[in-house]
Amino acid sequence: MLLRILFMCSLVSSVVVSVDVKESVEACNFAAIYNFGDSNSDTGGISASFVPIPAPYGQGFFHKPSGRDSDGRLIIDFIAEKVNLPYLSAYLNSLGTDYRHGANFATGGSTIRKQNETIFQYGISPFSLDIQIIQFDQFKTRTEQLYKEAKTALERSKLPVPEEFSKALYTFDIGQNDLSVGFRKMSFDEMHAAMPDIVNQLASAVKNIYERGGRTFWIHNTSPVGCMPVNLFYKHNTPPGYLDKAGCVKDQNEMALFFNNQLKDRVIKLRTELPEAAITYVDVYAAKYGLISNAKNEGFDDPLKICCGYHVNDTHIWCGNLGSENGKDVFGAACEKPSAAISWDGVHYAEAANHWVANHILNGSFTDPPTPISHSCYRH
Ligand SMILES: *[C@@H]1O[C@H](CO)[C@@H](O)[C@H](O)[C@H]1NC(C)=O
Ligand SMILES: *[C@@H]1O[C@H](CO)[C@@H](O)[C@H](O)[C@H]1NC(C)=O
Ligand SMILES: *[C@@H]1O[C@H](CO)[C@@H](O)[C@H](O)[C@H]1NC(C)=O
Repeated sequence: MLLRILFMCSLVSSVVVSVDVKESVEACNFAAIYNFGDSNSDTGGISASFVPIPAPYGQGFFHKPSGRDSDGRLIIDFIAEKVNLPYLSAYLNSLGTDYRHGANFATGGSTIRKQNETIFQYGISPFSLDIQIIQFDQFKTRTEQLYKEAKTALERSKLPVPEEFSKALYTFDIGQNDLSVGFRKMSFDEMHAAMPDIVNQLASAVKNIYERGGRTFWIHNTSPVGCMPVNLFYKHNTPPGYLDKAGCVKDQNEMALFFNNQLKDRVIKLRTELPEAAITYVDVYAAKYGLISNAKNEGFDDPLKICCGYHVNDTHIWCGNLGSENGKDVFGAACEKPSAAISWDGVHYAEAANHWVANHILNGSFTDPPTPISHSCYRH
């Protein structure tokens, strides 16, 4: 249908066409969302599996801890709102879940590549992307079986409709922790050399889903990791050139851009390898860096300061944790005005920033192709 419109209109003028097509073609009717990623999109996986994320996480929107690393909603929640679907239950959660409209396989600390570490060392999740794909496979097989065996509508009501896996939106937001493991363990040359493998493993995950019927993919690139306040703590009197114009760690951001360029090239190649896939590459980096560089004009406080947690001189007490300073108990509490914060806890964004970023990426202004998420199911 779309191809025909494109073909007919291209006889007239290709510039006018892309606008026409967007407006004339119906919005995609996504039946479900399946998400893969790390803490940027974890809606309860790591909390269910290990130690729950404590208050004041979740205080703003959910008014209680919600398994999310923020005071409120994440970008994945705004995606769900945008396509009129409920917030996603974590696949690993055993309580109060509803998978009728999708599931979330993301867990905080996940990497694309499997790491040989336990979560108790540096917080790296055992549920790397390849495991998340295996979990999806199992989820699909088992829910299809359960759906077939169900005797009542009630039994089926919390299960995905098997035919809808092909009409789902598949979202990915992962890679940031591969970079942080790299900064910890590898030289920059080694990281550059590892990047094609990292990006290929993400591409393999997309191919796996495609082979199981998935057609629409929405792939976030990685954020400006050098702008995370946690990467700026304890950095005093840095040499000239260490920081970029926004005050972020320059070489870390360059590594994120290196990953992103390779990811973008790989996505372009994937489009030829998967002839029926509609794959959108989303430049989350540019959106976030834009916000950080222009925080004040956008109505936000200092982007390199944290809202939740205690950080004075070189004492750092993590958001929601109890620590001590000069023999006194100190709690890592939230700031007065989280709605003006960009960084919630030094690593993760506050809801207000997530909302800003979602507003800027979901309408297509930071995506390739430049299509809003509502129309991301059409292949260009
Ligand atoms: C983990 O260990 C295995 C087996 O020793 C090795 O093949 C693999 O490359 C290691 N992975 C990483 C990310 O270090
Ligand atoms: C932090 O350092 C400054 C300057 O050295 C000092 O005046 C201040 O008391 C320190 N704050 C705390 C809470 O220790
Ligand atoms: C998308 O939304 C943002 C934020 O409201 C706005 O600044 C931008 O111009 C919009 N872009 C498009 C292509 O509609």
